[in-house]
Amino acid sequence: MPDTPFTFTLPFPTLIPSHFDNHIERRLSSLKGQFFDLDTYQKMLAVEDSLVYEVYEIRRPEAAGEILTGISIVHPGKVGREFYMTKGHFHAVIDTAEVYLCMKGEGCMVMENPQGETSVASLYPGSVLYVPPRWAHRSVCTSRQQDLVTFFAYPGHSGHDYSTIERQGFGKLVLEGEKGIEIVDNPRWNKP
Ligand code: 6PG
Ligand code: NI
Repeated sequence: MPDTPFTFTLPFPTLIPSHFDNHIERRLSSLKGQFFDLDTYQKMLAVEDSLVYEVYEIRRPEAAGEILTGISIVHPGKVGREFYMTKGHFHAVIDTAEVYLCMKGEGCMVMENPQGETSVASLYPGSVLYVPPRWAHRSVCTSRQQDLVTFFAYPGHSGHDYSTIERQGFGKLVLEGEKGIEIVDNPRWNKP
C-alpha cells in the first residue's frame, strides 16, 4: 500500500477502477433470508446462484484518518417483485458516515437507524448521497437493463456489522409495481 499520493481512474463504460485491491462477487446464496418472497428465492437459487452485485475495493489501512473507497455495481434483476440489492449493513463502528456518488444507472438507497427510523433516497447519475453516522445502508438497482454503479468513500476504521441486518432485515422493501417502483413496509421486519 503506497504511502505516497496515488491516482486511479474510473473508465466508462465499465467504471471498474484502473487500480483495485479486492474484487467481491455476491451471489443470490449470500442474500439468504433477505428477499421477501422466500418461495421464489428458493426456486431461483435451485436453477442458478446468479451474480447479484460486485464490489471493487481500493484498500487502505483500516485506521481512523484513512478513507476506504471503491465501486459498487448492483446488476439488474428481481426476486419476485423485489429488485436486486446489496446485503446492507451498519458500520461496526456505528458513528461513521459514508458518501455515495452515483455514476450510472438508477436505484435507491434504503437506510435505517437503530431506533427504526427509515429513509429511502433515489440514486441517479450525478447524485451524491450522504449517509450519516448510525444509518445502515443497502443499495437497490431499479433499472431493468442497466447496472447501478456507485463510488463510495468511508472512514478506514468503520468495519461492517452484517448480523444486525441479517437478523432484523430493513423496514422498507423496494418492489416493481404496476405503476412503477413501490416502496412498501417489510412485513417480516424485526423492528429494533
Ligand atoms: C462499505 C460500503 C460499500 C458496501 C457495498 C456492498 O461500507 O463498504 O457501504 O462498499 O460494502 O456497497 O454492500 P454490502 O457491504 O452491504 O454487501
Ligand atoms: Ni457502508
